[in-house]
Amino acid sequence: MEKNIRLGDNIVFDYHQRTKHRLEAYAPSPMFLDWENEPFPFRIYEGSPKIGLALIKESGSSYFGSLGTEEIPTKPLDEQTLSLFLLDSLSISAWKRAPGLSPWSLRINPSSGNLHPTEVYLIIDSLGKEQNETALYHYCPLFHCLEKRATLGKNLLADFGLPAQGFFVGISSIYWRESWKYGERAYRYCQLDIGHVLGTIRFSASLLGWESYLVEGIGTELLGSILGLASQEGPEKEYPEILLLIVPLQKKSVELTIEEEKLKRLIPRTLFGHPNSLSKEHFPWPEIEKIAAVCQRTSFFPLKIKLAKTISPSHSSLTSSLVRQVYAREIIHQRRSAQAMDKSAQCPRDKFQFLLQKTYNNLKNKLFPFDLFKENFIIALLFFINHVEGLAQGIYFLELQSDLEEIKQSFHGSFLWEKIFDSIPFFSMQPLKTDTLAKMVHCYQSIAADGFFSLGMIVKFEDPIKTYGPTLYPELFWQCGLLGQFLYLEAEAVGFRATGIGCFFDDEVHRIVGIKDQRWQSLYHFTVGKEIVDKRIQKIDPYFFLEKIRSESNFFEKLSLG
Ligand SMILES: Cc1cc2nc3c(=O)[nH]c(=O)nc-3n(C[C@H](O)[C@H](O)[C@H](O)COP(=O)(O)O)c2cc1C
Repeated sequence: MEKNIRLGDNIVFDYHQRTKHRLEAYAPSPMFLDWENEPFPFRIYEGSPKIGLALIKESGSSYFGSLGTEEIPTKPLDEQTLSLFLLDSLSISAWKRAPGLSPWSLRINPSSGNLHPTEVYLIIDSLGKEQNETALYHYCPLFHCLEKRATLGKNLLADFGLPAQGFFVGISSIYWRESWKYGERAYRYCQLDIGHVLGTIRFSASLLGWESYLVEGIGTELLGSILGLASQEGPEKEYPEILLLIVPLQKKSVELTIEEEKLKRLIPRTLFGHPNSLSKEHFPWPEIEKIAAVCQRTSFFPLKIKLAKTISPSHSSLTSSLVRQVYAREIIHQRRSAQAMDKSAQCPRDKFQFLLQKTYNNLKNKLFPFDLFKENFIIALLFFINHVEGLAQGIYFLELQSDLEEIKQSFHGSFLWEKIFDSIPFFSMQPLKTDTLAKMVHCYQSIAADGFFSLGMIVKFEDPIKTYGPTLYPELFWQCGLLGQFLYLEAEAVGFRATGIGCFFDDEVHRIVGIKDQRWQSLYHFTVGKEIVDKRIQKIDPYFFLEKIRSESNFFEKLSLG
């Protein structure tokens, strides 16, 4: 066992090294875009029964600032609320159009290259007409419908001792969708995308007064069987990733215990429908298979899930007047990635301080939405400050864990470590012109230098992977993706726009601060600024096409026949 973990560690460290972008060469990738075989971004189970969900346009919502700080009345789980839950987390939210190209869709969750490798499944005790029938469903964002993949039995979740109306959400990835464009680095992007999806789910659930918990202890193989993925093979197969439990807000802490034999009752015997084909031809990426295999989890029974209240009213003071009284649902649906930033714009100092304070506060204290994880491995944010009022351009550092002395000793001795705000461990390290530097380290992307600031998420890397084994590797990316989702929404709420940045020269970033080994690594980057409006985004109802085709008789019946 020990030897296997060691071998696995090495595969993780090797994969991480070989998928670094370097100034002299990008990580191995196809080198060109094979448009003929661009993977279709929607999985559809041809022949499975479809349940069209309501297209709810107007729905009240809490203020954005109240998420995680105020109790939101719990809504009952029914077809309407489930529809809202999915509309606010995974649905299509806009369309883009450019001359000579067919329009393409954008979703509530961002995705590297807009390729959307993440698929989502629900296991629910009773839905619509199917009272008390536990079933497995796949969510199809294209038609905003649930595809029934299997019926599993009667009231199986209630039998687990789950709080009434609790349900499971299973997440998988189709690595091919990202490797088609990004080659070997794609595994990292898929994991970051999962982090974003964990965020969109956590936010949309909380709007309905529902809590989300990661289900730990369930092995990858068992999860694949439960999600009906075990029989999938070939380059387009889905890899089971993680299971979430969603339950109504808990008044007091309860520890839920789920025995192996009960969980195994969720394995479908018969599956409805077949996965659609995404591309005609494929190019193999064996390094992705290898890293995915080594990061597989094993099961530990019985599963223990601590259901606890996660509202922290004491931190509501941070929802200051700087946050416009905006509705959370509005922010969630308007979120977009900036494609270009206005470099003449400046970030007001108070808004910058507010963003910094809230990020620090919530991450450091593991508050909403960062309470999903037991332990937080993001130890610092490395800032490239470009245009922030009252701050000289340069390199800055936000410390999130108490390893400052160790960090100081490892980083360049010439750094200033000058504290900028009394209440936040945010330091000026080195004044310098960031224009060229920020652009260069982010694969020459102008958004990183033209925004107010860009940042790198530095995680503890080598020690935790050696301690917990290779399965921690994807989790490090999930944590960074979740922080990315938080930053996207926080930026929107104060009137800015952001973009996740997966393309950066890893070791150039490390060189800037003096990281010479694998103790810490920067895993995900981000930029925030004033967007130059992307005129390709169409201001249309994202499901404009659906009402029309749904009104055609038997639309879903026809689809269900495959
Ligand atoms: C993990 C991740 C990495 C990304 N990396 C980049 C990047 O390097 N450069 C960029 O311009 N956009 C990047 N994006 C933004 C995506 O291109 C964007 O999410 C996608 O086009 C969908 O648009 P939307 O975010 O407006 O929905 C990234 C997004 C994610 C989630």
